[in-house]
Amino acid sequence: MGQDGVHHAEFSEFASGDREAALQQLVDSYVALASDQDNWVCNLANAASLLWHAYRSLPLDVNWAGFYVADGKNANTLILGPFQGKVACQIIKYGHGVCGTAASLQETQLVPDVNAFPGHIACDGETKSEIVIPIIGKNKKVVGVIDIDCLTYDGFSGVDVKYLEQLASKIAETCEFP
Ligand code: SME
Repeated sequence: MGQDGVHHAEFSEFASGDREAALQQLVDSYVALASDQDNWVCNLANAASLLWHAYRSLPLDVNWAGFYVADGKNANTLILGPFQGKVACQIIKYGHGVCGTAASLQETQLVPDVNAFPGHIACDGETKSEIVIPIIGKNKKVVGVIDIDCLTYDGFSGVDVKYLEQLASKIAETCEFP
């Protein structure tokens, strides 16, 4: 049990089934968990869990949710971060795939059909749609991306963009990245 008398696992309970409510709860839960914690591994690990449980509470077949982060050893390179789902590719160069495109353009990529996205990197051939949100650090450089994959086409919309961009900016505010 946490210091405040709350079991941390209770943050994993998303009851509503309503997307806006679940995503608002996701952002609020992240802010609460990160309020006295700035370690990026710790915060992104719990954020990956929140993403997973929030999306799995909806009538949507999300199969991967997590993070790629800027690789401190190699410029313009993302490396796999905390996630939930199947084993994924480890390195993505800026400008490659959906994640690398979001990182190089510093713009959210909403992809209704991954097969129509030039250079999409298929970690899991079953994935049909994807959303990637860049996390822009205090120095205006990309510190990482949020990546969520779905087994159906058109899995994501402007509602997801709105709340996931809020989450990205909360992560940038709360985490110390190396
Ligand atoms: N599809 C991504 C690669 C990462 S996996 O989805 C986990 C891309 O094209 O960048």
